[in-house]
Amino acid sequence: MQGCKQMTTPTIPQARTIRFRIKRQDAPGKPIRIEEFDVPVEPGANVISCLQTIASNPTTVAGTKSTPVVWDAACLEEVCGACTMLINGKVRQSCSCLIDEYAPNEGDVITLEPMTKYPVIRDLFVDRSRIFEQLKTLQAWVPIDHTYDLGPGPNEDVARQHTHYEISECMTCGCCMEACPQYLIDNEFVGAAAIAQTRLFNEHAVGSTLKSARLDTLMGPGGTDDCGNAQNCVEVCPKNIPLTEAIAAVGRQMTIHGIKRFFIGN
Ligand code: SF4
Ligand code: SF4
Ligand code: FES
Repeated sequence: MQGCKQMTTPTIPQARTIRFRIKRQDAPGKPIRIEEFDVPVEPGANVISCLQTIASNPTTVAGTKSTPVVWDAACLEEVCGACTMLINGKVRQSCSCLIDEYAPNEGDVITLEPMTKYPVIRDLFVDRSRIFEQLKTLQAWVPIDHTYDLGPGPNEDVARQHTHYEISECMTCGCCMEACPQYLIDNEFVGAAAIAQTRLFNEHAVGSTLKSARLDTLMGPGGTDDCGNAQNCVEVCPKNIPLTEAIAAVGRQMTIHGIKRFFIGN
């Protein structure tokens, strides 16, 4: 007869008050200030629910009446990437950030700051349109330019389906660019996410018709040459996308593309 294993009951944090230290800015170019708010939290609360509590009564710990903190969000289930910010200095989605993990004790402090690689619109809300513009520049899509049924397209390469599925989970959140030392608010580097999407569409049976144009773009300013291979990107991607593998794969495509260009001219 086997002995009984002793069950350990996880400690569930109780209702408590947490202090939020938030970097605020009313509009682009306006002065930056730090405001602190004490928020009563129940077990299971997340950063967004705490920001909603603050919005219902935005009074600072100093007793000053302030304004609701502005942030971006849509899906509330770590799919859209809109709510990404720096939480205790680390970039991640605020909707999936549980207070119980970050601040289990009465009086614990959580700092919230906007990402630093995108212009601040207000408070924690940044303008991520650069990411989408980069995807447009790289034509990161499958081209469909007919209005009538062409029948089924070529089959996907089965051996690569798993990798392609992983890359397709990108939610353009910006985490990988925020962590990248080469991606700056004012330079042209396209960043790891756009390079990974280039791999996805270059290896797609129909998407590959734009492969040459995409690689030409990546050979230009802000392309893959700007990647310093620091690998910070892959460490922070919430979807565990194999970013450095994708960068290496696109690098190989570019080498072949460059040789072809040199000898054949296209
Ligand atoms: S490997 Fe390093 S330099 Fe290249 S995109 Fe990732 S974080 Fe940036
Ligand atoms: S690759 Fe990962 S970290 Fe980068 S934008 Fe996509 S989901 Fe976010
Ligand atoms: S609101 Fe969509 S990822 Fe958080």
